[in-house]
Amino acid sequence: MKLEVKNICCIGAGYVGGPTMAVIADKCPEINVNVVDKNEKRLKGWNSLDLSLLPVYEHGLDKLILRCRGRNLHFSNDLEKHISEADMIFISVNTPTKSKGIGAGQASDLKWIDASAREIAKYARGETIVIEKSTLPVRTAQTIKEILDSSSLLNQNKKFTVLSNPEFLSEGSAINDLENPDRVLIGGDDEDSINALTKIYLKWVNPEKILTTNLWSSELSKLSANAFLAQRISSINSISAICEATGADIKDVSKAIGTDSRIGEDFLNAGPGFGGSCFKKDILNLVYIANHYGLKEVASYWQKVVDINNWQTKRVSSLIVEKLFGTISSKKIAILGYAFKANTNDSRESAAISVSKELLNEGGNICIYDPKVSISQIKSDLVEDPIHLSNLEKSEGGWASAPTAIEAIKGSDAVVILTEWEEFRSLNWSKVASLMRPPSWIFDTRSIIDLEDAKKYGLNIWSIGLGN
Ligand code: UDX
Ligand code: ADP
Repeated sequence: MKLEVKNICCIGAGYVGGPTMAVIADKCPEINVNVVDKNEKRLKGWNSLDLSLLPVYEHGLDKLILRCRGRNLHFSNDLEKHISEADMIFISVNTPTKSKGIGAGQASDLKWIDASAREIAKYARGETIVIEKSTLPVRTAQTIKEILDSSSLLNQNKKFTVLSNPEFLSEGSAINDLENPDRVLIGGDDEDSINALTKIYLKWVNPEKILTTNLWSSELSKLSANAFLAQRISSINSISAICEATGADIKDVSKAIGTDSRIGEDFLNAGPGFGGSCFKKDILNLVYIANHYGLKEVASYWQKVVDINNWQTKRVSSLIVEKLFGTISSKKIAILGYAFKANTNDSRESAAISVSKELLNEGGNICIYDPKVSISQIKSDLVEDPIHLSNLEKSEGGWASAPTAIEAIKGSDAVVILTEWEEFRSLNWSKVASLMRPPSWIFDTRSIIDLEDAKKYGLNIWSIGLGN
């Protein structure tokens, strides 16, 4: 396989493909990077002159786009052209959990991977290194290889090697994670291809941080890393319920256990349940694989991590209803934060979706404010149209969106903080109390507010993992 990479093509201009290619283009100005997608709306966003319309919100991404777009970074719908010109192709398409058929609810839906592999098989010319970037079940590379090899058999000029190079970026800090990775993992068996990809990362990553393994270890490492992280959250969330029941404080417990260097302090914040496109999907993939290999105990062990997560989210919505005297019918509830975590506009698998649906189902009127998630996204998640803010109080089980936190809070019976956006840490509690309808409740599912300050104004406060 040739070593010189001049043209990269990335299939999929999403949360992974967009930022990852922007960083590669920035660090490797001599390489031409083309990101291709079939979604015209997304492409329009990536090509927009107004950088606030980029489809992905990440700190620092706009600067990279400004620097590289039109120079050596391009967003296009011309898959044929860019695949055929590429020396290296990243597959960065969506791989959600299957909703029907074999493995529904557990296995990943690989139809977009399959389609991408077929497009590569059709359009690629000469020698091409194909890299799986999307999170995938173990042995997906085999599927990709088989599709590509069948086209090499028909056309001797086409030659492919497949590498796994999983992405460990975390949304909200994607650019920093890409520029300063803990490690870069490359799985494969073709030394020349591994060297070609390594050479790209060496532009900004220390060689000792670049790990190489076989394909299957690389694929399994990605799933396992996410499963371990998610497991920590389910563990701390399970302890948060014990804290509430016993009078302990989850913040003290997290600190006390996190200072043990073997445990470490990260990822010990109790919350309304983990969201995001990866954790649940990856654990369910592990569950599916374990069951496939007859490892029932392993499957049920990991399934419990997801079960606790669902339980935690449900626990939050149930206790909101309970604290509001068992009924929220026609009461106004302000939802502060809708993204699955702070500093992103992504709402995939956000706890806010389940909590909002439960509250709507109970007849509550919810008013949502999030600094970055669009109203059209919320509408598609809740599968229900919003009503005008001014009509909310006359409704029962309706939702509206507000332009600011204060607008959402006006006239509400309860405020539920679901995402840890910085601006919610420093709300003016005196003002909040004056705008709410007493007895006013604040539900802090992220444990971020200054309790002493808020309590001064007669607000009732429930904070996750805080026992009385
Ligand atoms: C995750 C992995 O961190 C990343 O390495 C992988 O590439 C993709 O999946 P991401 O989903 O972007 O990244 O976000 P992450 O920061 O891991 O948070 C996931 C969820 O867990 C969020 O809903 C977050 O609010 C929640 N969380 C995180 C907690 O509830 N408590 C914590 O202590 C940490
Ligand atoms: P991720 O978070 O993994 O980046 P996203 O859903 O944000 O996932 O992005 C995946 C992108 O891949 C979407 O914009 C989708 O339109 C694109 N995509 C999926 N299949 C194909 C395909 N066969 N060809 C081109 N683009 C594709």
